[in-house]
Amino acid sequence: MTSAHVLAIDGPSGSGKGTVAARVAGLLGWHLLDSGALYRLVGLAASRRGIDLADECAVADCARDLDVVFENDKVLLEKQDVTNEIRSEKAGATASKVGALPQVRQALLERQRAFAMPPGLVADGRDMGTVVFPDAQVKVFLTASAEERARRRYNQLIEKGFSANLASLVAEIRERDERDATRAVAPLKPAADAVCVNSTAMTIDEVVAEVSARALSAWPDLRV
Ligand code: DC
Repeated sequence: MTSAHVLAIDGPSGSGKGTVAARVAGLLGWHLLDSGALYRLVGLAASRRGIDLADECAVADCARDLDVVFENDKVLLEKQDVTNEIRSEKAGATASKVGALPQVRQALLERQRAFAMPPGLVADGRDMGTVVFPDAQVKVFLTASAEERARRRYNQLIEKGFSANLASLVAEIRERDERDATRAVAPLKPAADAVCVNSTAMTIDEVVAEVSARALSAWPDLRV
């Protein structure tokens, strides 16, 4: 399917996979695909166009037409900086809903595969190892308990000066997990050949070290 090296990191929201994927990509000097950002962008583009999320064809059109540029740490939608806007809880919940639409997933498939370029790609998402890059040489499925993921999110929000409620974050995370894991297409689940890493009691540094070690053993010529 692709000749570039691919390291797939899948898992539920709050497992730390976004941070780990970005750090490992930085260490290896590889490209990074934040596939969740694409689903968040489709949700935002659809809301801006006033499209009903139940209208699968119209949402899939948004996915196909998505005018997005990833520029360093910034994300531009139709040339407008939406970096912070797509990170809200609301954008995450909308992304989870558009992610349940098969035509949207199909529309984003080739766009995601185009990120696999030399020297390699670290792909972060829910179905990187199962659907988008089934031939990825290294697949990691990163988890953590719902309580621990809610606690991490709570701390992030408080640090940014937002108010937050731990109990409702746990409930939201459970609801999102349930929707992502039970949807008909590309449900959130480990690939048969994925290594599962439970980060509940690990620091980010420990997870980065664990994932990097797996990359180094799969591709012995790599230097970090
Ligand atoms: O990783 P994230 O929290 O930014 O993802 C937001 C939502 O997008 C997630 O709840 C489900 C959806 N998503 C998906 O369906 N498939 C992916 N590969 C990535 C994200």
